Parts: sequence; structure tokens; C-alpha cells
Amino acid sequence: MLARRTFLKVSAGMGALAMLHLAGLGGRGQGRAGETAIDLPPLPYPENALEPHISARTIGFHYGKHHRGYVDKTRGFVAGTEWAQMDLVALVQKTAGKPEQTSIFNNAAQVFNHNFYWQSMKPGGGGVPNGSLAAALNAAFGSYEGFVAEFKDAAASQFGSGWAWLVRDGADLKIVKTGNADTPLTAGLTPLLTIDVWEHAYYLDYQNRRGDYIQAFLDHLVNWEFAARNLG
Ligand code: FE2
Repeated sequence: MLARRTFLKVSAGMGALAMLHLAGLGGRGQGRAGETAIDLPPLPYPENALEPHISARTIGFHYGKHHRGYVDKTRGFVAGTEWAQMDLVALVQKTAGKPEQTSIFNNAAQVFNHNFYWQSMKPGGGGVPNGSLAAALNAAFGSYEGFVAEFKDAAASQFGSGWAWLVRDGADLKIVKTGNADTPLTAGLTPLLTIDVWEHAYYLDYQNRRGDYIQAFLDHLVNWEFAARNLG
């Protein structure tokens, strides 16, 4: 079980790239000539749509301040450089592991991770999935309950800021966790679903009770249709 949660940076796989372009999360914005390719995508639902599990106040800060801040910083860093017209996934891939590009990577990866997080939730979501995704979860984790136990453990045990992910690794589903801005994109994995466990994601609503936030995410918010589309 430990191996499943171990996260190592390896070179990017084309499978992840292809999927993300199909899912419309490549992050290419309006592409205005002379500006950057990175924009803040609209939220897929109103700011109060996830209440009472995540408040409009939390999303107002999280999307409107934190996520927008990552977008603005990324745009500022790449403007006028060779990176300016690169789409988001390519920018994350090409700056990963390069110490001189750490600022671009950290902000661009956080833009991607947050784009993915908002899509990973929906009003009235959560609970047991069906169809091919349910079969894949059962094959990988024994049961939905097995998936829940491992996902909760990864999300709760991520020390400090970071993310927990359900990913596809070839034909297998796995759960990984990443610290700070790190993302499965840099490990050749195809992300299906993510939860943000930075404190800014839950502190206004849950204070130190990260476990209650994770439980609410699983029971009421997971967008299984989005995960199924990413599974392909
Ligand atoms: Fe966040």
C-alpha cells in the first residue's frame, strides 16, 4: 500500500497530455496576440453551489484570490519570454525539475491543479460511482470502500500543503499525493480526480478538521462524470 502512495518524478507520458487536451484542461486561454496563453477559466458552477460543504466565502477567496493569484503570477513570469505562448500543460511539463524555472513551474502547476480541482467537484456529487469507473475502482482497490480508505489516508497524511489524486497509470488506477505545487503530470500519470488539501481549501469552513473536509468531498462533492471522462 505504501508503494501506491509513493510519488516519484519521472518523465512525462504522452497519454496524460492527450487526455488533458481532450478534457479541455490544457489551459490555453484566449490567446491574445502578444500576451500569454494562460488565463483564469470560469468556475464550472456559482461560488455558493457547493454549500453547505464548501462555502461561497471559501470559494471566493480560493478561486478569486489564490487561484487568480497563481494565474497572474504565471502570466507575469512568462510575459515577453520564450514561454509566453505555451499552453498550460506544456508549460508545466517543460519547467518541471528545472531549478531556474521553479517560479514558473510552481505557479503554472498550481493553475493546472486548481483548474482540475474545480472540475473534480459538482453540486450533489459524491458517493458511489457506476459504470466503467466503478469496475476500475473495484479492480484497483477491491471495492469503493477500499478506494475511500486509501484516498482518505493519502489526503489526510499529506504533510503540510498539497494534493491527493486518483490517477491512471497505464491500465491501473492508483492514488498518489503531491506536495505544494507538484502534480502527477510530471510523472507520466493521467489524473482523474483531485482534492486540494492546502489549508486555504478548507480552513474557513473546517478549521483544523481536514478529515471532515475530505469526508464531505467524498460523500457530497466528487464529480464522477469528470473522472470517468478522464479515464477515457
Ligand atoms: Fe488551493
